Amino acid sequence: KQSPVIAPSILSADFARLGEDTAAVLAAGGDWVHFDVMDNHYVPNLTMGPMVLKALRKYGVTAPIDVHLMVKPVDRIAPDFAKAGASLISFHPEASEHVDRTIGLIRDSGCKAGLVFNPATSLDCLDYVLDKLDLVLIMSVNPGFGGQKFIPMALEKLRRVRRMIDERGLDVRLEIDGGVNADNIGAIAAAGADTFVAGSAIFGADDYAAEIAAMREAIAR
Ligand code: DX5
Ligand code: ZN
Repeated sequence: KQSPVIAPSILSADFARLGEDTAAVLAAGGDWVHFDVMDNHYVPNLTMGPMVLKALRKYGVTAPIDVHLMVKPVDRIAPDFAKAGASLISFHPEASEHVDRTIGLIRDSGCKAGLVFNPATSLDCLDYVLDKLDLVLIMSVNPGFGGQKFIPMALEKLRRVRRMIDERGLDVRLEIDGGVNADNIGAIAAAGADTFVAGSAIFGADDYAAEIAAMREAIAR
């Protein structure tokens, strides 16, 4: 298992001061920037595109940017995020006609690749593509909005994917996204996650650094 990464989701940042708020959460101890892309088609909400990512890089954000694509189709837009400065691009298998091809497209564009599983999506395709991935993302809410409640069944899914990764001896990160906070992050880590997205829990806190520190303590416990 790899060292823990905390990836604040800037979906819950102040969009009118996105550069400053992103810099603040990184200064407070965030490791990656989790960048949620929603298209009002695959999910019922609309957020940010490649231009916004590019603007964050121009503003001076050098941390890894973890792009979570909640868009359909994937192939036409994914390379634009790579060009804009993404480090890792994850997509949902249901949103791509040819999952293996899309993984190749992302890697050929110079980014790491991840696959995302909704609460009711089966993990079947991992049998065939796990060794081509850099990250598996388990959703613990239905995608589309920040601030939802953690769905506990995600813990069993994390345990299953952790087993698959370890059995095959792969260097694949296991990420959780949705309803993560300092109270449940310990159980999430125990279930096998090593990469933790948190939006409302961090940006809703008065002190980002204290919140991130509390999360790290709970993970280490
Ligand atoms: C939901 C997004 C999440 C969201 C998490 O569709 O993928 O990344 O920002 O927000 P919280 O941590 O508030 O559940
Ligand atoms: Zn996300």
